[in-house]
Amino acid sequence: MISILMGKREARDVVVEMRGITKRFPGVLANNHIDFDLRAGEIHALLGENGVGKTTLMNILYGLYRPDEGEIYVRGRKVNIRSPKDAMDLGIGMVHQLFRLVSRHTVAENIALEKTYVEGIIPP
Ligand SMILES: Nc1ncnc2c1ncn2[C@@H]1O[C@H](COP(=O)(O)OP(=O)(O)OP(=O)(O)O)[C@@H](O)[C@H]1O
Ligand SMILES: [Mg+2]
Repeated sequence: MISILMGKREARDVVVEMRGITKRFPGVLANNHIDFDLRAGEIHALLGENGVGKTTLMNILYGLYRPDEGEIYVRGRKVNIRSPKDAMDLGIGMVHQLFRLVSRHTVAENIALEKTYVEGIIPP
């Protein structure tokens, strides 16, 4: 009974759900049926060895890659994220690793900069 009640509360707070995400590159299984839930207010750290598939999973959430299998839900609604613009329209931003960052900017400023590209204020 407790778990059922918790389940309802948690389901309401879930902002992003990734279910069974699988991504293959030639000769590489980068993501193997990954489940990931993000609830409002949470901060997650995705940890793992080099090449284990962290960036691939985030690139899928941000629409840079399409998953071979799996589903994504945003605020309980199944979504089809085909591009970074689709992701941004859903409120998903991405601060890229290393070379695409403005090093003097904060994380928030880098996110804001990415958003201005998508909205066409600054040409890419
Ligand atoms: N565009 C691509 N084409 C082919 N293989 C790719 C591509 N992107 C990623 N891979 C492969 O998928 C696997 C997962 O890579 P990914 O970059 O997601 O790992 P990572 O966990 O982010 O690694 P790191 O800690 O080095 O950033 C690696 O074997 C990588 O070589
Ligand atoms: Mg990476």
